[in-house]
Amino acid sequence: MPGDGEWLLAIYSAALCVRESPLEGPSLSSETRGKLGGFPHCRERRSGVGSRWTSWYAASSRASIPAAPAMSAPHRPLDTYYPSECDRSAWVRGIFDRTAGDYDRIERILGLGTGSWYRRRALRDAGLTPGRTVVDVGTGTGLLACAAVTVVGDPALVTGVDPSAGMIEHARVPAGVRLLGGSAEAIPVPDCSADFLSMGYALRHLSDLSVAFAEFYRVMRPGGRLCLLEITLPASAVSRALLKVWLTGFVPRIASVIAHRDAPLLMRYYWDTIAACVPPDTILAAIGAAGFADAHRRVDLGIFSAYRARKPG
Ligand SMILES: C[S@@+](CC[C@H](N)C(=O)[O-])C[C@H]1O[C@@H](n2cnc3c(N)ncnc32)[C@H](O)[C@@H]1O
Repeated sequence: MPGDGEWLLAIYSAALCVRESPLEGPSLSSETRGKLGGFPHCRERRSGVGSRWTSWYAASSRASIPAAPAMSAPHRPLDTYYPSECDRSAWVRGIFDRTAGDYDRIERILGLGTGSWYRRRALRDAGLTPGRTVVDVGTGTGLLACAAVTVVGDPALVTGVDPSAGMIEHARVPAGVRLLGGSAEAIPVPDCSADFLSMGYALRHLSDLSVAFAEFYRVMRPGGRLCLLEITLPASAVSRALLKVWLTGFVPRIASVIAHRDAPLLMRYYWDTIAACVPPDTILAAIGAAGFADAHRRVDLGIFSAYRARKPG
């Protein structure tokens, strides 16, 4: 039987994703356009993944396939939600745009207040120290960026990057934190400009891990540290079943009262991405293949993974 800790992390993991729904994003306020800093938010740099996916995607059917062939996406396209790989990033962006207003509230309620504590600890354990410059990719409403500010001590040292204008519009970060439109695959910051790169719970939403990790390598200074937080499928069948019931049964009921009306869809999507995600060893191998050294994973409570690595130099 799972212990209290596993229930807590199941609750917490639910909180990380109650915020997704279909396509079109909100129109941007002038404040958000300002926050986006002039970066062409909707322009996407294509990496050629579409063609690579064609044969596999044609051969596969639904989201219940955890195994994936050698490839760079974190999971196969989920055709229950979007028709093809080409539609993945737009659909993901739309989900986060539409549900951004609920993100922090639900994270607080369902995370039972553990979220900021865990994020802060994970950053410190990965080597973040005062005075370091941080790029937080997939920053969303800025929860991990805020944790980074408390560690480095100066908001001006932290830059958040996210493709969802809705998430950035709802970001609550200390004055001085820079928020930029962009994606893990195309980060709008110069080469070798970050001492530390973090990404919280965005890995499952990327289009191409290899492209993203190469981009992380590009923007980090030699000697810089990498810290990627993600939810991983629990090893125990009982814990997996509980997590699934929690995410696809219980949480959607709560969320339909306190959050966006598409919460059941959002929870199913969340569960499907966890179930379909490539295993941790594949992620570690991709980090190493991008040139990072000492790639390793710390696991808490069987579900919270912190991938860490160092750029040589
Ligand atoms: C679950 S939220 C996490 C927010 C925040 N990092 C946290 O710790 O709470 C995932 C974020 O990843 C972003 N995202 C989706 N696709 C992305 C991509 N290709 N590159 C970077 N971020 C992406 C979403 O817009 C969303 O804001």
